Amino acid sequence: MNIRKVVIPVAGWGTRSLPATKNIPKEMLPVYNKPGVQHVVEEAIRSGIQDVVFITNRDKNVIEDHFDYNLQLELVLERAGKTEQLGIIRQVAEMAKVISIRQKKQLGLGHAVLCAEDVVAADGAFAVMVGDDLLFGMNPGIQQLVEVAESEHLPVIGVMEVPQERVDRYGIISGEEISPGLFQVRKLVEKPKVNEAPSRMAIIGRYVLTSEIFGHLRKVQPGHGGEIQLTDALQYQADSRGLLAVKIRGMRFDVGDWAEYLTANIYFAMQDEELRDDLVRHLKPLLP
Ligand code: G1P
Repeated sequence: MNIRKVVIPVAGWGTRSLPATKNIPKEMLPVYNKPGVQHVVEEAIRSGIQDVVFITNRDKNVIEDHFDYNLQLELVLERAGKTEQLGIIRQVAEMAKVISIRQKKQLGLGHAVLCAEDVVAADGAFAVMVGDDLLFGMNPGIQQLVEVAESEHLPVIGVMEVPQERVDRYGIISGEEISPGLFQVRKLVEKPKVNEAPSRMAIIGRYVLTSEIFGHLRKVQPGHGGEIQLTDALQYQADSRGLLAVKIRGMRFDVGDWAEYLTANIYFAMQDEELRDDLVRHLKPLLP
């Protein structure tokens, strides 16, 4: 299994983040000094994946532009002798090869993945990363899945334990723990009611899938919210050749949730040594 491409669905409306996202894609909201989507692409690159397939819509061109050259700005920076900034923006343009596919109707995450079929199916296996989930830790989140997928030759999804009262926000899995932190998945439910969830193990937006998924996705009927759910296609996968889940190690922020979005900003800024002391000084008086 050689994972070369990552599918990043970016066609959602970002309704949780309005009015900030009225005219700016939610993926472009900054998390500290870069758009959230750049953090996701960098996680993929740190995991050895260099081709990014954005599943996009007519209002999201700015995402592709972010990963392209901006010759006018480069010229301005060059003339002003701002070589450090010039290096930074060039590096963003050069970090990934970008392929864009229009999702002409937003019919759900499963439908978004199906849109990528022609581009990724021939690879045999590929990654999917949901831009709302930002993960930070020693090992990039998606790499933790890639390692297991390569050794076990099975699709793998990332999970984390969430509080009981939040299970209705996620796809929830159940299964047997076959080694510490590794599960053979038996059952998946998309956004179950709090008292009906089979466990507290939530699917975090990281997946390594094989091209088998496309056959499963075609069988899926509209599910939760009337959408084609990737979670429902994964149930077919679990019932046929099998599906594994890895408990991801690291911190996770859901950038569609304001409290987590703001925490992610502070967390990132704190990693910047030049900023940390100043930030703490400004924050301290605000604490109750
Ligand atoms: C999607 C998936 C869900 C998963 C979640 C993680 O839901 O359908 O199974 O738990 O991403 O962020 P969404 O948040 O797009 O509604």
